[in-house]
Amino acid sequence: MVNQRITLLSSLFLSLLLTTAYAQLTQDFYKNICPDVESLVRSAVTQKFQQTFVTAPATLRLFFHDCFVRGCDASVLLANPIGRVEKDHPDDISLAGDGFDTVIKAKAAVDSDPQCTNKVSCADILALATRDVIVLTGGPSYSVELGRRDGRISTIASVQHRLPHPDFSLDQLNTMFGSNGLNQTDMIALSGAHTIGFSHCGKFSKRIYNFSPRNPIDPTLNVQYALQLRQSCPVNVDPRIAINMDPTTPQTFDNSYFQNLQQGKGLFISDQALFTDTRSRTTVNQFASSNAAFNQAFVSAITKLGRVGVKTGNLGEIRRDCTAVN
Ligand code: HEM
Ligand SMILES: *[C@@H]1O[C@H](CO)[C@@H](O)[C@H](O)[C@H]1NC(C)=O
Repeated sequence: MVNQRITLLSSLFLSLLLTTAYAQLTQDFYKNICPDVESLVRSAVTQKFQQTFVTAPATLRLFFHDCFVRGCDASVLLANPIGRVEKDHPDDISLAGDGFDTVIKAKAAVDSDPQCTNKVSCADILALATRDVIVLTGGPSYSVELGRRDGRISTIASVQHRLPHPDFSLDQLNTMFGSNGLNQTDMIALSGAHTIGFSHCGKFSKRIYNFSPRNPIDPTLNVQYALQLRQSCPVNVDPRIAINMDPTTPQTFDNSYFQNLQQGKGLFISDQALFTDTRSRTTVNQFASSNAAFNQAFVSAITKLGRVGVKTGNLGEIRRDCTAVN
């Protein structure tokens, strides 16, 4: 009897512990703090998107890079006039300025509501803006978990070995995503983000010019597509030239990325590996044949991405200016 009670009590305690450890973010976090936060962010993001399409891919990639380095804490937004910070690392240097600008504009919109001034974290604004750009480009809508606090640290060193490179193999991708709590299915779904946006020629030029002594063109690449890429990216191309990553529907968030992989039209080694490697091919085929299956997997994966390393409660701060610590 006594024993049973102890077991009951300790399991109650354990489940309480587990819930507090897990239920850190909530969808209605700002219900009483800033009830209109979602529409304030949405209108600012929509306005910015109407000015330039780049808003969408830039914001989506910014969120990913933020979450994989020190967690989703807006550390990627920090600028430092003296020392160098996350965004100065080579892996972050091509993050498009329009993504940063989107968060800054959305923050200004939120702060313009007197009830909300300095009450919503930059990390949450980035998470909301990311959902909004996905919807604006035709992707799935979903509820965003909120309650993140902003980090106070940003260093160039913390980026090293934290972000995937375009020449990664499936194993390398799985290791890196796995260390962020994301499984192979999540990783494949999130790679579908490459259905919108741009890449600079240098990220894949080796694949189309000097892949190996035996094969100048990567044999997993569709030859027609490779020749097309050579035209867009001639030798000695201006390094500022960028091309669409999805040659089919470059401005629509859809599953064409996976259909492209089936045809050997994955731009990076890391993209094409998802189809070439038989361990991940089945999932690619599933997403290629069903946009609904892709959307569902993407929503669950980006929700998991949004939980990576988050600071909650009284950790971190609510930044007044998204580019500087308070
Ligand atoms: C799976 C491993 C990944 C690798 C190796 C990778 C690599 C890259 C590279 C090299 C670029 C081109 C950058 C440039 O030349 O400017 C790029 C662009 C982009 N990536 Fe990824 N990425 C990966 C996963 C992701 C994920 C998980 C997301 C978001 C959920 C994402 C979103 C984007 C977007 C939207 C762009 C276009 C950015 C723009 O047009 O400004 N990527 N990625
Ligand atoms: C991977 O995570 C997703 C949730 O994002 C889950 O539905 C799926 O079952 C997981 N797959 C494996 C193989 O654990």
